[in-house]
Amino acid sequence: MHGSANVNIMIKAARKAGRLLVKDFREVENLQASMKSAGDFVSRADIAAEKIIRDELRNARPTYGWCAEESAEEHGKDPTRRWIVDPLDGTTNFLHGLPHWAISIALEHKGQVVAGVIFDAAKDELFWAEKGEGAWLNESRLRVSNRSRLIESIFATGVPFGGRSDLPQTLQDLARLMPACAGVRRWGSAALDMAYVAAGRYEGFWERRLNAWDMAAGVVIVREAGGLVQPLREGGDILSDGEVICANEPVFEKFAGLIRER
Ligand code: IPD
Ligand code: CA
Ligand code: CA
Repeated sequence: MHGSANVNIMIKAARKAGRLLVKDFREVENLQASMKSAGDFVSRADIAAEKIIRDELRNARPTYGWCAEESAEEHGKDPTRRWIVDPLDGTTNFLHGLPHWAISIALEHKGQVVAGVIFDAAKDELFWAEKGEGAWLNESRLRVSNRSRLIESIFATGVPFGGRSDLPQTLQDLARLMPACAGVRRWGSAALDMAYVAAGRYEGFWERRLNAWDMAAGVVIVREAGGLVQPLREGGDILSDGEVICANEPVFEKFAGLIRER
């Protein structure tokens, strides 16, 4: 399966940044002795990866806008299109030598995500989708799982770290969901959590307090794999609220009912 010119540009940028990050990831292990230098090294790697992606995308499509984690937002001459980029999602895993992190690149057109690429460079898994064209993992078609019983389903989320104020809310979510399902995972990369829902590896994902770049590519990948993706707050907007809930269709209502119950 071959994507459009835009998707090919996104894949090229993700692979190029991925080569750099894989090299740096190997290096991080040698730096673990000094926590401070490992932290500085990772933030430099993150910024360098974003620069590679920015150069590739902006050279190929100079009129599109730019919204990314490590640099200022830029409005393009074309106000209807922008790139939404997280050069390294799962930074804490990366810093700790855990091979679970990804590059996330999305293209938004008139407020809708129309293409997404999530590249897990350490495992060489490239998840991508284009609106109306389906979702793919490398060369294979992606499809959400068809499990329909909550008690057999696995869900993923992110739990607040370092004293964030949304801990009680997350604990309430977990208290309602955990007894009703087969398990909850916290793997540390929201982008890969969404890619894994698309791949049918788990049934659903929800998280609060995210940024647009954590979710944008995942939104189109899960939808194109046949899943439902909604704002957590009904009637809200996923990217601007920074909250999302997604799952395969058979479990969505039961799952969302528990998480949204207040
Ligand atoms: C983080 C990851 C994590 C989520 C955090 C994000 P980063 O992104 O997606 O899974 O729980 O809220 O900030 O900082 O590694 O790019
Ligand atoms: Ca992120
Ligand atoms: Ca990041």
